[in-house]
Amino acid sequence: MDSVVVVLFMLLNSLVMFSNGGITSKYVRKFEGTPDMPLDSDVFQVPCGYNAPQQVHITQGDVEGKAVIVSWVTQEATGSNTVLYWRENSCKKLQAHGKSKTYKFYNYTSGHIHHCFIRNLEYDTKYHYVVGVGQTERQFWFFTPPEIGPDVPYTFGLIGDLGQTFDSNLTLTHYENNPTKGQTLLYVGDLSYADTYPNHDNTRWDSWGRFVERSTAYQPWIWTAGNHELDFAPKLGEAKPFKPFTRRYRTPHKASGSTESFWYSIKRGPAYIIVLASYSAYGKYTPQYTWLEEEFPKVNRTETPWLIVLMHSPWYNSYDYHYMEGETMRVMYEPWFVKNKVDVVFAGHVHAYERSERISNIAYNVVNGLCSPVKDQSAPVYITIGDGGNLEGLATNMTEPQPKYSAFREASFGHAIFSIKNRTHAYYGWHRNQDGYAVKGDSMWFHNRVWHPIDKSSSSGS
Ligand SMILES: [Fe+2]
Repeated sequence: MDSVVVVLFMLLNSLVMFSNGGITSKYVRKFEGTPDMPLDSDVFQVPCGYNAPQQVHITQGDVEGKAVIVSWVTQEATGSNTVLYWRENSCKKLQAHGKSKTYKFYNYTSGHIHHCFIRNLEYDTKYHYVVGVGQTERQFWFFTPPEIGPDVPYTFGLIGDLGQTFDSNLTLTHYENNPTKGQTLLYVGDLSYADTYPNHDNTRWDSWGRFVERSTAYQPWIWTAGNHELDFAPKLGEAKPFKPFTRRYRTPHKASGSTESFWYSIKRGPAYIIVLASYSAYGKYTPQYTWLEEEFPKVNRTETPWLIVLMHSPWYNSYDYHYMEGETMRVMYEPWFVKNKVDVVFAGHVHAYERSERISNIAYNVVNGLCSPVKDQSAPVYITIGDGGNLEGLATNMTEPQPKYSAFREASFGHAIFSIKNRTHAYYGWHRNQDGYAVKGDSMWFHNRVWHPIDKSSSSGS
């Protein structure tokens, strides 16, 4: 009799969680993506001048936000490894010295890829910097973040799975023109899609670097590794995964005690950001597992109230694409996310948009049968933002009915903004490419899980 009751309860529970879901947007778009922009497109233009630095990008260079890694490529010769930099309105020019290397991938040889740490920067300050010293010099600027603290406002942009198509260009243009200006971009993986070309044509890594330079040279992009960064091609003699990505894109992983560049953490203003690696081992006893276990106790929510996690493969995804690919990592880490009250998890991989309710699925223990998501106010909101617009097209097919854990979903390309106001409130908006720059297709006020853990959130998808 008891077992009948249990079965009935499970049936009822699954009906509650998997019927009458949230909102599926009324917009239906075509599956086909646009092709990659031709290599002679203006967005890929090589800068003028002998050995001119190209593909300039910056990222955070330490845990605290007082260092920046400046990276660039010189094609004809090694050129200078020096970065000249100075505070705005200061005539005292400083120098930092980096290193450069080339790499080979099958029949491709890269240009000279430079990486240079600039340290001991002052918070909340505009800096100018020059690369290509002594040859063709190019000048850029960036702002350092405000000093770490619970109530400093800070705005993050979010893009995933961008690629280099005409749609990708629209996404980046919309991000740049959004009136709510992102100060740092959280990138949730899958960058160039060069691996979709014969022999993983690495010239498409170069063109991608030139395409995004208009943003990456001026604000840090925080990198997450996706499956298109693997470039695992043993038949081409390229059996070491992530080679082009690691040569080109540095992360400050050592500063947070990580042993690989694919998982690490940073603090930036009011946020503590943990970046996880969907394509590196994450089971018990692995380096990533051990690192993450030791990472959560380091998070001081009085100092950084907002706990954000980035990963590539989503844990909660109600599209027919990559369905449950994130499941094994979810099983390993979700209890920690709930225990530590992660505010929000951003993922990519699925080429569409989706936002979840606050739910968890951590009760299962092999014999109890409790394996359905339930509402949980200590759980994060899960957002899939893999809709940057790459050549693989949109994920238009959805599982039906919409699971109740799914609050809003729409298969359109776009980007998002996460704007932290203070320790209690953050405003989140998702922007589809078809709308004007200020229009939000989905939005939500986030209430911090530690400082304002109320049982509702105002949201609207349209
Ligand atoms: Fe992916």
